Amino acid sequence: MQTRKLGNSELYLTTIGLGTWAMGGGDWKFGWGPQDDMASVKAIHAALDQGINWIDTAAIYGHGHSEEVVGRTIKGIRNEVIIATKCGRVWEGDSREIGKSLRADSIRREVEASLKRLAIEVIDLYQIHWPEPDEEIEEGWDTMAQLVKEGKVRYVGVSNFSLDQLKRAQAIHSITSLQPPYSMLRREIEEEIMAYCGSSQIGIIAYSPMQAGLLTGKFTKERATSLPDSDWRSRHPFFIEPQLSVNLQAIGQLKEIADNKGITLSQLSLAWVLRNKEVTAAIVGARSPGQIEETAKAGELSLTKAEIGAIEEILAWRINNL
Ligand SMILES: NC(=O)c1ccc[n+]([C@@H]2O[C@H](COP(=O)([O-])OP(=O)(O)OC[C@H]3O[C@@H](n4cnc5c(N)ncnc54)[C@H](OP(=O)(O)O)[C@@H]3O)[C@@H](O)[C@H]2O)c1
Repeated sequence: MQTRKLGNSELYLTTIGLGTWAMGGGDWKFGWGPQDDMASVKAIHAALDQGINWIDTAAIYGHGHSEEVVGRTIKGIRNEVIIATKCGRVWEGDSREIGKSLRADSIRREVEASLKRLAIEVIDLYQIHWPEPDEEIEEGWDTMAQLVKEGKVRYVGVSNFSLDQLKRAQAIHSITSLQPPYSMLRREIEEEIMAYCGSSQIGIIAYSPMQAGLLTGKFTKERATSLPDSDWRSRHPFFIEPQLSVNLQAIGQLKEIADNKGITLSQLSLAWVLRNKEVTAAIVGARSPGQIEETAKAGELSLTKAEIGAIEEILAWRINNL
């Protein structure tokens, strides 16, 4: 699979990375419903077998569970995979409440806990998960820079930052990567952030590139309305009316483009995200080996101008009908 250099770093990421949020399971505030750990382990192996060379996780996913599953699975093959994780979302004991802290002492506690759960000596890419609380960004980012000097982490990045927040962090220490939401249904970064990252050598690693499964073409109204309460998507506006019907109608039209090209809608959605040179890679979630075997193939695809134009028309129709 092709690789792209991540921002100012020496990391070469495959254009498809494996996202492991759903592997955190359903037993926490932003869970994805029940998830079988064996299926997660197999999905990670399948991703690596497909040539994917990096995995994104976060401490908060399943309150440490996703990191533990990743750590267990990469034991013995650690040097073959680039590990990205995140800090800034904290919890205490069995509480479902999620705290927000970018204080130095909190990040220092978090990095040690993540290293332990992942069972590795150094984290390749350590990211601030959310820019919250806003007034702690400078302290948090300065701490991240110190962790690089101390050899706990190799490179540092941010996630969900606005343009202004990116500039504030960049003034302290150079940002290797930004992890923003980006898909056919969420295009906010195209306004300003994408160009800023391109000109500042900040690699973009796009999250939810299939809009949490909606853009796989395998979602129906019946499935969306019967998601369990333990799946956060059951509460998200994209998956409930009035947006759901409009989204599904647009998705039906997008699927025709994919069908005509002889690819799946998931693959079309990922190729669309990767058409931007500023995007280093798409972080693609999977819960089973079959899912990532399908989506990994998008790393080799490209779209024609005519296909991009046809997609644009459908997306404009969607916006006008929301
Ligand atoms: N930094 C942040 O704040 C942030 C936020 C969100 C995500 N992320 C990262 O980005 C990663 C990817 O985002 P995401 O997981 O939200 O969404 P995504 O990659 O757009 O969608 C992943 C979901 O789509 C479904 N799916 C995947 N492959 C499929 C296939 N071939 N056929 C049918 N369904 C398929 C699976 O869920 P079902 O089978 O249940 O439908 C899977 O969990 C996350 O895992 C995480 O690492 C970061």
